[in-house]
Amino acid sequence: MARILITSAIPYINGIKHLGNLVGSQLPADLHARYMRARGHEVLFLCATDEHGTPAELAAAKAGKPVADYCAEMWAVQKDLSDGFRLSFDQFGRSSSPQNHALTQHFAGRLAEAGLIDEVSERQVYSNADGRFLPDRYIEGTCPNCGYDKARGDQCENCTKQLDPTDLIEPRSAVSGSTDLEVRETKHLYLKQRSLRGELSDWIDSKTDWPVLTTSIAKKWLNDGDGLQDRGITRDLDWGIPVRKGSEPWPGMEDKVFYVWFDAPIEYIACAKEWSDARGADDWERWWRTDKGADDVRYVQFMGKDNVPFHTLSFPATIIGSGEPWKLVDYIKSFNYLNYDGGQFSTSQGRGIFMDQALEILPADYWRWWLLSHAPENSDSEFTWENFQASVNKDLADVLGNFVSRVTKFCRSKFGEEVPAGGAWGAEEAALIKKLQAGLAAYEAQMEAIEVRKAANELRALWVLGNEYLQTAAPWSVFKEDPERAAAQIRLALNLIRVYAVLSAPFIPDAAAKMLSAMNTLDTEWPDDMTAALSSLPEGHGFTVPDVLFAKISDEDREGWQAKFAGQNS
Ligand code: 2FM
Ligand code: ZN
Repeated sequence: MARILITSAIPYINGIKHLGNLVGSQLPADLHARYMRARGHEVLFLCATDEHGTPAELAAAKAGKPVADYCAEMWAVQKDLSDGFRLSFDQFGRSSSPQNHALTQHFAGRLAEAGLIDEVSERQVYSNADGRFLPDRYIEGTCPNCGYDKARGDQCENCTKQLDPTDLIEPRSAVSGSTDLEVRETKHLYLKQRSLRGELSDWIDSKTDWPVLTTSIAKKWLNDGDGLQDRGITRDLDWGIPVRKGSEPWPGMEDKVFYVWFDAPIEYIACAKEWSDARGADDWERWWRTDKGADDVRYVQFMGKDNVPFHTLSFPATIIGSGEPWKLVDYIKSFNYLNYDGGQFSTSQGRGIFMDQALEILPADYWRWWLLSHAPENSDSEFTWENFQASVNKDLADVLGNFVSRVTKFCRSKFGEEVPAGGAWGAEEAALIKKLQAGLAAYEAQMEAIEVRKAANELRALWVLGNEYLQTAAPWSVFKEDPERAAAQIRLALNLIRVYAVLSAPFIPDAAAKMLSAMNTLDTEWPDDMTAALSSLPEGHGFTVPDVLFAKISDEDREGWQAKFAGQNS
């Protein structure tokens, strides 16, 4: 049994996330966590809200609420929605937690002791109209790299380049829109990432098994000359983690807080402590400190491509620079973007489908299946209502749902609601079992490799095998001549429902639970040996016919939703 630490990029607190955010980190992370648990591994799966920085302050101001109140409310909203999508976090923490305050200040202190922090007097954009400095997202303008005209002061959303506010062309205040800006001197802390370049480069080079998307972005920023600059890790903001050197004050930094991208990844560690503290335990270090048992942990991170530079360069620089034995990530799974019906999902423009709206329309499994089976792994992918309707109707309703319904209903009408006795399996069943065993191996291989789309294809192929068997075996015809033979066929098919439930649970946990409950079993053992697994429900074992697992999406539904979302988003 292995120990696997899994973190999903922590979503910004400002508002409800859209399905593009969900499929880029939390949902595939959940798939991996559920699969690894099902295989008997010890898993710690962590996520949190990213509560500091300008996104939080701007959103709270817009909502007319104190930032702390706004964050507490939005944390509860996001927690509710992640429960709704069945995201199985062991802890859904908060980057504003006392644990993260202490750890972030600790790391800053260690980095200072290691000589990796410079105090730099620098020029910052000050807005006369707003009477304040404009760090990061408080300022917008045109990206000097790609020309995108809504680039933010910290990063261009379009080309992922990390920026400084003074880099922007034609800058304007995001608070007031004012262009009455000037540059003023102020002192800030800089993390000397450049002096860790060699170590970071060796470390990234050693990750030969990482997805190309991850390493190509990491190497681009590492080798592009200006990619690995020393980064300012403090900001002139009220809300955030106060700048301290461990538990000591930091002279000259009294009114400043740490930059959100400095403290956010440290929350991955703090979140484990939140998890441990919440249980009155003290076992978080065995996941995070290699001197306390974490050297045998496999640590996997999930994120969208825009987050890759921070996780391959900035956060590892913090960890390595601390000189302490913290665990470094072993594998980074990153994702391209999901587009929405011919354009981009956009939080700022309210374009696309947001997590709350999705759950108002349909249960989580419908979305989980479509999103995961269309995960933007090798390129950006696109949500269209037609494709969504087709996938749900075909894969979930016609293939899986129909199998479950036909088998259970046929059995009830001919043999009653129990696994029928009699008859024996023959060549057809042996052939099916052989194919299922091979299909299972293929599914496991893709799940282990975190190839999400390919894993979905393999799972679908397993469902199809059951349907094909049913079609050729035709127990409804066989029953007329040879009811015992039909009993043996249906016995296998009922057992296959349990097997499907176990295998499908990482993708569609609610439907899987319904299937298990209909099969009246708590047996979730992985079907390593298909022959044995297909005999797990014995003759005479009672079951019930479940309600429809997946309702088909009608053209009317689809057109209605299409129109509703077009109106809302245009
Ligand atoms: O892109 C985002 O949504 C960021 N809030 C992700 C932060 S991940 C991390 F570093 F914690
Ligand atoms: Zn750009």
